[in-house]
Amino acid sequence: MRIALTGATGTVGGQVARLLAPRYDLSCLTRSPERAAARLPGPGLTVETDLDDISSLTRALAGADALLAVTFDPLRDTHDEHLLTAARRAGVRHVVKVSALAVADPGAQDAITRWQRACEERVRASGLSWTLLRPRAFMSNCLDWTRSVREEGVVRTLHGSSANSCVDPRDVAAAAARALTSPACAGRAYALTGPAPLSARQQAAQLAEVLGRPVRHEELTEAEALARWRARYPDALAAALLESADRQARGAKSAVDHGVREAIGREPGTFRAWARRHGAAFRTEEAEAVGNAVEKAAEKPPAVPVEAQTSA
Ligand SMILES: NC(=O)c1ccc[n+]([C@@H]2O[C@H](COP(=O)([O-])OP(=O)(O)OC[C@H]3O[C@@H](n4cnc5c(N)ncnc54)[C@H](OP(=O)(O)O)[C@@H]3O)[C@@H](O)[C@H]2O)c1
Repeated sequence: MRIALTGATGTVGGQVARLLAPRYDLSCLTRSPERAAARLPGPGLTVETDLDDISSLTRALAGADALLAVTFDPLRDTHDEHLLTAARRAGVRHVVKVSALAVADPGAQDAITRWQRACEERVRASGLSWTLLRPRAFMSNCLDWTRSVREEGVVRTLHGSSANSCVDPRDVAAAAARALTSPACAGRAYALTGPAPLSARQQAAQLAEVLGRPVRHEELTEAEALARWRARYPDALAAALLESADRQARGAKSAVDHGVREAIGREPGTFRAWARRHGAAFRTEEAEAVGNAVEKAAEKPPAVPVEAQTSA
């Protein structure tokens, strides 16, 4: 069975590649095969492609039975359309789309969630067999805090007491690997959360326990949070992140779902376990660079970096 992966150098796709490489014929679509090679579990897995170029995508998908669709840019909705068109032309049968849990909340109308909803609609209308994965925020988003934790022992966020039932991206990857290889997952949408709602304050406290030193939380004002987002992202995304944070503050992201168990037959991983695996990144810069190269696209930020995609 041949499986094509987009986002294979990223957080979820990279772990899907490692899970499937031993048993399946993989084709990892990337803009930079050279950069990607260092992050993938074996040689000869990459195909140079551009999500803006349907011809290169169609060639890259030739012979693939299933496709992991991970796209990145909420301000451009053409990438999913291109991927699906190419998949149909290439004869791909099944597509697994990494979406976001916010799509299931009618109260979520921010630009990132509207983009994910539109992407899901395209998948459903594609004529291909599909599985939708809807994760809550990734635990790995906390890697944005590594420097302030290392240098100051501080985590700074807006609405630090509000909870999110964040999910270990390893569980999202495991669900994707199963959905790509098991017909039982076709036509299903999985809500992927962690085992418990956690606030940033609670995450900081758990990090402190794991690291064996104090980590305190400092609350950002709305203006401070917005200024930080505007420094990194276009205004439309900064506004979407603010809306999303407000929704979290109103309790919209705290419910725990059983999607991980349904998808992979085991309980979801805890934040404490995630923090133990990644503790080194919060201790030294070198450890962050080495230890997380495989779980976080570190060399070159994606078009829309990780934090911008946390509307879930
Ligand atoms: N982070 C969260 O909390 C969260 C929550 C819910 C849903 N999600 C969704 O989960 C999905 C996966 O996120 P992730 O964290 O695994 O991704 P990621 O680590 O941010 O992925 C980085 C990937 O982006 C690719 N990339 C960036 N721009 C590209 C472009 N223009 N064309 C082709 N590839 C491009 C890079 O591939 P190359 O450099 O190799 O080309 C790299 O593999 C996203 O759709 C996100 O919206 C995230």
